[in-house]
Amino acid sequence: MAVLCLSVAGPTPILAQQAATPTLPRVHFVATGGTISNRDGGRLTAEELAKSMPGVERYARLTFEQFANVASSELTLQQWLGLAKRINELYATDKDIAGVVVTSGTDTLEETAFFLHLTVKDPRPVVVVGSMRNPSTLGYEGAANLLEGVRVAADPAARNKGALVVLNDEINSARNVTKTDALRLQTFRSREYGQMGVVDRDRVVFFSQITQRTNERLEFDVAKLTALPRVDVIMVYQGAPGDLIKAAVDNGAKGIVIAVAGAGATSGTQNEGLAYAAEKGVFVVNSTRAGSGRIAPASGDLPGGAQVNEAQRRRRQFSIAGEDHTPVKARILLMMALTKTTDRNEIQRIFSEY
Ligand code: DGL
Repeated sequence: MAVLCLSVAGPTPILAQQAATPTLPRVHFVATGGTISNRDGGRLTAEELAKSMPGVERYARLTFEQFANVASSELTLQQWLGLAKRINELYATDKDIAGVVVTSGTDTLEETAFFLHLTVKDPRPVVVVGSMRNPSTLGYEGAANLLEGVRVAADPAARNKGALVVLNDEINSARNVTKTDALRLQTFRSREYGQMGVVDRDRVVFFSQITQRTNERLEFDVAKLTALPRVDVIMVYQGAPGDLIKAAVDNGAKGIVIAVAGAGATSGTQNEGLAYAAEKGVFVVNSTRAGSGRIAPASGDLPGGAQVNEAQRRRRQFSIAGEDHTPVKARILLMMALTKTTDRNEIQRIFSEY
């Protein structure tokens, strides 16, 4: 297979184009590292991964670039911004691209995918792919997952569905998917929402559509952002100390996600910590630690709701219902919301629309 390599400056040192039928859709592949590339003795490059998929030329013309080559948890928030900007730039300047595939380590893949879900505005898809077994392991499924990601990215039905996560023949929305098992291949699940589709031998099949705001309906703009506001996640557990919340506030957190027990319980002295956060004007999003389920706005926000005292009123002024987002995803949505507004009702609206 003929491969043309070009060197470019900046974080994109390699671009290459494989010869394929020009009428096929073009898919651009951006490699960031992770287990899918973590071969004993040296990580696979984007080029090596691109060449690892026999038959890819039947589905797409592939171009690729190396953005990073690290474990997912080593990607910095600056790199997240750079990645989102890069994909937006690719889509703005290259109308020939049908879809983008990003490889990532699986540990924090759901976070990177959700960040891209909120920040890539083009209707064309971003498909995030990883693998649970590394290239030196018998049964490595990375090349198969990558090929399936390319097939999804090339499929017009994948447009306007936000970012998608493809592993193990399944398509999940970046909004809903979670890594549910530390080791198993079938780890990426959307729990009660179910998978969005499958990648079968004959074709890509979608079963459902996403109803929340995505793609051209996104209101966040990363183009001019140089940093993301600090937002921390704090877990509720029996007898938990509220001074951890205070420490987050004192160390510059602009927002806190509290992973509440059930539908809203805190424990120990956490309410004191939350009162401190409210005093300092730090927003607190309530998200359940249960793994699934929705946190609804407080009854005081509803018509005919209960009367509240001054301290409760202040708490409510900085308290946001996290809806059905898991704590780590609520954190990303709060970071993005805070790049736009510090109006509490606006932040709550954002949580109800994404
Ligand atoms: N589990 C991998 C990840 O999520 C880490 C392995 C590695 O690439 O070093 O990125």
